[in-house]
Amino acid sequence: MRLFVGLTLPGHIRDRLVSLKGGLPDARWVADENLHLSLRFIGEVTGGDERDIDLALQSVTGAGFDLTLASLGTFERRGRVHSVWAKVQKDVEKPRSLTTLRDRIESALVRTGLEPEHRKFTPHVTLARMKNGDARMAGLYMEIHAGFRAPTFAVERFTLFESHLSHGGAKYTVLADYPLQAVSV
Ligand code: 2AM
Repeated sequence: MRLFVGLTLPGHIRDRLVSLKGGLPDARWVADENLHLSLRFIGEVTGGDERDIDLALQSVTGAGFDLTLASLGTFERRGRVHSVWAKVQKDVEKPRSLTTLRDRIESALVRTGLEPEHRKFTPHVTLARMKNGDARMAGLYMEIHAGFRAPTFAVERFTLFESHLSHGGAKYTVLADYPLQAVSV
């Protein structure tokens, strides 16, 4: 089974992201129900490993926090665009909330024997993927949506997903949710 850890998005945030779809030639838009924020890609594991991973994730503690998606970004390679995504805006008061959660998840997973993730964490919600996207077209698209900003929402849990790949595209199933502690005011 192919696993990853991430955040599901509230329906009204998803709807806001869905409204950004369209206007990019050759883009494969992420299915509405698949829109999510990835915290850690795990990859293929066996059923036994999945149990260890679940136990490790249950041990991760942390306070809930607010999150805002605002403005768009791209991943590019050799001048060609491979994906367009919504950015996570840094919370000025608690700039490390999301990275702290990610770091705790990373440590817990490494303790189960997974290889550490060496790639830099760039929190994002992928909107569209492209094989060989034209940077100029992507630039125009980004200009049109330069003012994008979704309402702030509360992150109260993180989630273990299973990803099923097929010719029709990926299908994600929620395997487990892990609650974060309520924030006292
Ligand atoms: P992406 O949205 O930037 O493609 C499920 O595939 C999730 O895991 C996606 O959010 C994906 O990020 C992320 N991911 C990270 N590394 C990956 C990898 N090597 N292969 C597939 N997905 C990966």
